[in-house]
Amino acid sequence: MKPTRALAIVLVALLFTWIGQVAVGYLQVGKLEPVLNEETSLTNPPAPSGLAQTGARVFASEGCLECHSLSVRGPAGSADLTRGWGPRRSVPRDYLFREPALIGFARIGPDLSDVGERIKEPNDLMMHLLNPKKLRSTSTCPPHPWLFELKLAGPKNENDSMPVTAADWKQVVPSYKAKALVAYLQSLNLGYPLPEAPLK
Ligand code: HEC
Repeated sequence: MKPTRALAIVLVALLFTWIGQVAVGYLQVGKLEPVLNEETSLTNPPAPSGLAQTGARVFASEGCLECHSLSVRGPAGSADLTRGWGPRRSVPRDYLFREPALIGFARIGPDLSDVGERIKEPNDLMMHLLNPKKLRSTSTCPPHPWLFELKLAGPKNENDSMPVTAADWKQVVPSYKAKALVAYLQSLNLGYPLPEAPLK
C-alpha cells in the first residue's frame, strides 16, 4: 500500500472517532441549560454551594467512586429505582453544575445520587465518614479517620467535635475536607423535576 493511502486511512479513522466521541456527544448534550423554577426563582438542577464543590474534589480524591456510582438508571421499575436509590433516573442535565461530572460505574456500595435525601442529618453523614459501623453495625463502607483531627481538649470541647470517646484530654474534630465532603453528600439529591425526567 502506498504511504499516502495508509495515511489517508488513518486520518479517516481518526475523523470518525472524533465524530463519534466528540461531535455527536456535543450535539446531544452540549447545549443543555438549567431550567428555571418559576416558584422559587432557583434553577433545576440547583447550583451546589462552593463548599459542596470542594467536597466533590474530596469525594474524587478519596476514591469513593471505586465503590459508589452517582447515576440512577431508569426506566420506571428498573432495579435502581426499586432499590430506592432515587425518585427518578439521572439524566445529563443533572450534571450541569458538577464539574467534573462524577458518574462512576462501580456498585459495591449503593448509588449516592440521592443520598442527601436518604440521610438527612449532617451529623449522621459525618459519623458515617468516621466510623460507618456506628450507624449500621454491618456496614462494610471503609472508615475515613484521616479526615478527622485528634486535638487536645480544652476545658470545653469544640462545638463540632464528634460524640465519641477519644483518649484522655483528646477530642475528634472534623477537618475542612470532612466538612466539605459532608456538604457535598448533603447536596446530592434528585428530588427536583426536569422536562425529560419528571417526578411522578
Ligand atoms: C470499598 C468500597 C467502598 C468505598 C471505597 C466507599 N464506600 Fe461507602 N459504602 C460501601 C458499602 C458496601 C456501603 C453499604 C453498606 C452501608 O450501608 O454502610 C456503603 C455505604 C455508604 C453510605 C450510606 C449509603 C446509604 O444509602 O445508606 C454512604 C453515605 C457512603 N458509603 C459514603 C462513602 C464515601 C463518602 C466514600 C468515600 C470517602 C465511600 N463511601 C467509600 C462501600 C464503599
